[in-house]
Amino acid sequence: MKILVTGGMGYIGSHTCVELLAQGHEVVVLDNLSNAKPSVRQRIERIAERAVEFVQADIRDRAALRAVFAQHRIDAVIHFAGLKVVNESVSQPLAYYDNNVTGSLALFECMAEAGVKRLVFSSSASIYGDAEVVPVREDAPLSALTPYGRSKLMVEDMLRDLGRSDPAWSVALLRYFNPAGAHESGLIGEEPGGVPNNLLPYIAQVAHGQLACLNVYGGDYATPDGTGVRDYIHVVDLALGHVATLEHLAKAATPPGVRAYNLGTGRGNSVLEMVRAFEQASGRPVPYRIVARRDGDIVTSYADTTLAERELGWKAERGIAQMCADAWRWQHTPKE
Ligand code: NAD
Ligand code: UD1
Repeated sequence: MKILVTGGMGYIGSHTCVELLAQGHEVVVLDNLSNAKPSVRQRIERIAERAVEFVQADIRDRAALRAVFAQHRIDAVIHFAGLKVVNESVSQPLAYYDNNVTGSLALFECMAEAGVKRLVFSSSASIYGDAEVVPVREDAPLSALTPYGRSKLMVEDMLRDLGRSDPAWSVALLRYFNPAGAHESGLIGEEPGGVPNNLLPYIAQVAHGQLACLNVYGGDYATPDGTGVRDYIHVVDLALGHVATLEHLAKAATPPGVRAYNLGTGRGNSVLEMVRAFEQASGRPVPYRIVARRDGDIVTSYADTTLAERELGWKAERGIAQMCADAWRWQHTPKE
């Protein structure tokens, strides 16, 4: 298949391009490079030993989107492009609604015009809010606690409405839990600008000596060691989940409509378990101190992955030891 990957130069998108190319698919990346470096393209091509078509454009630019659909016979779209920093979304909500909601709307309109109705959308477990039951199933109540989460929920709602209006659409809403790690080659990974918000990039910088100490947000939660529990999923497993999803959509005899799937491992790990795993993988100490709980944090979140296993035939295979080892290797990669 020929796949249009929006945001394909970013963290999850770049790993997904590598796995799509490895499976023999063709890839056209559309990215405005607002959060990625041009060199990622060469790195993807180096790992995959294949070429990637790249269009530098914004998903809100309908003319650019139309040109891509006119120039290429696109079979499906994977839509990663968007802004993702939760606390930034609180201070700049309009930027988040514009990029994530208006941008998605422009993309879906251009897809409809071009008759391309197969889509994989990057959603997030943040739309479960503070889930009452774990592991979290796809039919759990949806609620968003931040503008970022609400932007994802709005796009999911838009797609559910679109699916109801036209049964020709095949849409998978992939709700990622906590993506972490990097490609084993050390060539691609996550590049947070400034001080990282997410746990693993922060730990990696502490182990590397760029940051002095990890602040552990809360040590008195109702969890085995008192620290927050999350479902950390290796970014390569996540990428493979996208390939499995596309293949599932493509082989359906009739369009399966709009379906949501959790992409996680089904296991939860605490902050302190991640610290220990990273110390082992890196051979470096990760000094930490327990501080106050972070506003808006939930206690425990991990996925029920039954649906993805059953319908997509996909299951995460990499554990936290490999995640930390790969994140550590990436930490040493010279970045331009
Ligand atoms: P990322 O920032 O690394 O990648 C996003 C890419 O999209 C970047 O390359 C950026 O330059 C591009 N982009 C942003 N706005 C654009 C626009 N308007 N037009 C064209 N390109 C644009 O982020 P990521 O971690 O790879 O996340 C990918 C998707 O997955 C996002 O939609 C994010 O919300 C979602 N997601 C991420 C996580 C996570 O923890 N990383 C968790 C759940 C969901
Ligand atoms: C955060 C976002 C969530 C988003 C997810 C993936 C918030 C409130 N939530 O979730 O919407 O979907 O990222 O991008 O920002 N931790 C520390 N010290 C740190 C960093 C994190 O102790 O410096 C702890 C947190 O309290 C949490 C765990 O580590 O228990 C994971 O944190 P993080 O990586 O930010 O992910 P989420 O909290 O799941």
